[in-house]
Amino acid sequence: MKLALRWHVLLIGFVLGTSGAFAAVRPASSTSAAPLAQRPGHAGIASANALATEAGFEVLAKGGNAFDAAVAVASTLSVVEPESSGIGGGFMATMHLAADNRNVFIDAREAAPAAVNPKDYLNPDGTPNRDTALKGPLSAGIPGEPAGLVWIARHYGKLPLAVSLAPAIRTARDGFKPDVRLLGAIQDEQKNLERWPASAAIFLPGGKPPAAGELWRDPEQARTLALLAQYGDSGFYSGETAQKLVDAVRAAGGNWSLQDLASYRVKERLPITVDYRGYKIITAPPPSSGGVAIAEILNILSGFDLDHLDQAHRVHLVIEAMRRAFRDHNDYLGDPDFVKMPLDMLLSPYYADGLRQTILPDKATPSSMLAPSNGQDPGMHTTHFSIIDADGNMVAITSTVNYILGSTFVAQGTGVLLNDEMDDFALVPNKPNVYGLLGSKANAPEPGKRMLSSMSPSIVIGPDRTAVIGSPGGSTIITQVLEGILAFIDGGDAHQVAAKKRFHHQYQPDVVSVEPGAFDPKTSQALTRMGYTLKEREPWGFMNVVIWDRRSNKLDAASDPRRPDGLGKVQ
Ligand code: GLY
Repeated sequence: MKLALRWHVLLIGFVLGTSGAFAAVRPASSTSAAPLAQRPGHAGIASANALATEAGFEVLAKGGNAFDAAVAVASTLSVVEPESSGIGGGFMATMHLAADNRNVFIDAREAAPAAVNPKDYLNPDGTPNRDTALKGPLSAGIPGEPAGLVWIARHYGKLPLAVSLAPAIRTARDGFKPDVRLLGAIQDEQKNLERWPASAAIFLPGGKPPAAGELWRDPEQARTLALLAQYGDSGFYSGETAQKLVDAVRAAGGNWSLQDLASYRVKERLPITVDYRGYKIITAPPPSSGGVAIAEILNILSGFDLDHLDQAHRVHLVIEAMRRAFRDHNDYLGDPDFVKMPLDMLLSPYYADGLRQTILPDKATPSSMLAPSNGQDPGMHTTHFSIIDADGNMVAITSTVNYILGSTFVAQGTGVLLNDEMDDFALVPNKPNVYGLLGSKANAPEPGKRMLSSMSPSIVIGPDRTAVIGSPGGSTIITQVLEGILAFIDGGDAHQVAAKKRFHHQYQPDVVSVEPGAFDPKTSQALTRMGYTLKEREPWGFMNVVIWDRRSNKLDAASDPRRPDGLGKVQ
């Protein structure tokens, strides 16, 4: 049935008169004659918050490596950027271990509780209940971030977990001045935060959002982090914290059990690797859709000579590749421990060859001609940070509580703001989630299953430069990272890669989201003539990039210039 659909797609391409003559393979980049450095000898960190970047450097100064620094950055972000990620959520990490030249992928994604019930996400009349999907304890998956931090510290770090968690514990206990994004998030979500007494107690001290410049503390999260530091996994997934989490969730109408927490496990998976024009891209496998989509897009693009096209035609091909990859995302992908996915097909250059043939040289393919579907505008939250240490170890981590301030539900007595990641499942088949993504049975909720993600933490190794890259932004993560990779391959430095103007297409809705300034008027007109609907949107994303130029042996780190609070730093 699925293969029949694919041939149907190919057929559309031939019926529309596509020929392969448009395709041309570009030779791989030439390698540099300059000697390539084996280790940078200094470190670079880029994250969404200056306090988190500095926490990473603090731990490096104590003798830690990139993996210890990652624990410090992630846990500090849990405190200072709770609207995006935290110990009530989960993360995905793509890492490079310099000593044994090995890449690993850590899946610390949330999982559905055993008692998950799809009916909880429906109104009595059968329509989707967006409130239970996005707010309160039913929207929360079992957190993976605490287990992921323990795992990274234990298996890859050099320092005790307590040392790497110390900056976060100190910041939560002693307080910090929230940045404008956190203050704005609290104001935007005030009504939801007021629904849960423990959320209001933390985020609305004195009954209102904290004022700019005021010191803000989270002593309960400090204590929960201290228990994690002292006892590792059992400081969160059993004992006092676990009991409080389960009690709070159940008292508010949720369905977690102690067993759900006790049975949560981090999973190491093989990252996806794809070769593109002499660069090796190491990225996220399912249960992220990001790596599959990026690989599929790059495989399609590898047959075109993008460098010798005008901007309109280059963008046209990239959009068409995005459209096809997102269609597959909706059809096939889910948790690999639950669904059999045709990854060999999706990642195959032959499959990309077939899709390439369906792209018309000068005309948009309506998504409705590929398969029926629907959707809505993507949103954007989550956080990403990138690290390269003095030895050349690399960490790309994208971490999330899903939508802004997650479920807005804090479990009483823990300081743990729970995620609303259940919305990343296809809770109601063929109904869009908050990012407008559609899903099939492959991503239906099941006990213990991990919901599909778009997180795409990536490492790009070129002939003489290496990049660690990623960004938040829901479904736009995939296209942001793709465009960042292309900008890097085009020679961009860290700032240029992070600043590159963005566009996005996700199959449905069949519109191209365009950041102001991404296209010159001539390009916009040409794309409109080709049949695209362009929709200008406020700038999106919060990319954090570290680049190692192995010829000059210099690191370069940049945080997205669209946001004021990030910090990319090298020292
Ligand atoms: N919660 C957003 C994602 O994982 O894609």
